[in-house]
Amino acid sequence: MSIGPVSQGPNAEEAAYWSTKGRSWIEHEAVQDHLLRPVTDTLLELTQFQPGQRVLDIGCGTGAHALAVAEKVGPSGEVLALDISQPLLERAGQRFAGAGAPVQTYLGDAQVADVPGEFEIATSRFGVMFFADPAVAFANIAGALRSGGRMVFAAWAPVSVNPWWRLPITIAQARLGTPPPNKPNAPGPMGLADVTYLEGQLSGAGFTDFAVTPTTITLGATGGPADMAALSIQVGPAARLIRLFDARQADVAAIEDGLTRAYEDYVDDGAFAMPATLNIIDVRLP
Ligand SMILES: C[S@@+](CC[C@H](N)C(=O)[O-])C[C@H]1O[C@@H](n2cnc3c(N)ncnc32)[C@H](O)[C@@H]1O
Repeated sequence: MSIGPVSQGPNAEEAAYWSTKGRSWIEHEAVQDHLLRPVTDTLLELTQFQPGQRVLDIGCGTGAHALAVAEKVGPSGEVLALDISQPLLERAGQRFAGAGAPVQTYLGDAQVADVPGEFEIATSRFGVMFFADPAVAFANIAGALRSGGRMVFAAWAPVSVNPWWRLPITIAQARLGTPPPNKPNAPGPMGLADVTYLEGQLSGAGFTDFAVTPTTITLGATGGPADMAALSIQVGPAARLIRLFDARQADVAAIEDGLTRAYEDYVDDGAFAMPATLNIIDVRLP
């Protein structure tokens, strides 16, 4: 694993977040992988990775998406899985070693890392919305692509059209209060939800042929509403608010209870399943 300058630099705050609180992605890896697999499937379908291709996965987390891409590019291809969080990337490395897939890890900040190689495709499942300066970060990613290269990624659509985010936020805010509004397009899960802003950042970075596919997918858990509520107080929108407000145990318990009841409206065949709205972005370099 290569070591990049992540504890300092423009995204040091995100590096700290994803190396501490973000560790919940390791603790809940199996259920997260299951929930987000339809997003990977959508990206695979749209991108149509081919055997032998060299692919950069940005913000790979614990590596599930990179592994799925590695299966597509096969042993003659290559996937470099980049992340700013050392603990998440170490976990990804363990999984890659066990899988025998053509995937390597790279610790670095996508905004500034001097990524080795010339990739045909950059991919990401929810790993590109956290940059302090998206245009600079996308330009840096463009530098790791060969000319004519392509980038295809998933980013969340706005909370207002996205039940996956709206419901837990409504329930957590009813108990904790409303936080001060974020600056528009601030780094975070909703950082690239405004597609006009996003298109500007990508064209500023040199990408062309901007295509956005708004997509609503049902994300399903293996457990029922109570299991999903227990996860939601650890990972995702409600968990972010719980941390932001440093919520008391009684408030956390009330939010979990409220989520369990609300999630009962989202059950399919005994398991929790809820629609989520995201954008798939597809751009190219000249
Ligand atoms: C929402 S998680 C998604 C993880 C993974 N792609 C998945 O779908 O399972 C966002 C990931 O982006 C990473 N990340 C955030 N800012 C980054 C940056 N500047 N450079 C590289 N990775 C970053 C985080 O460490 C985290 O692993």
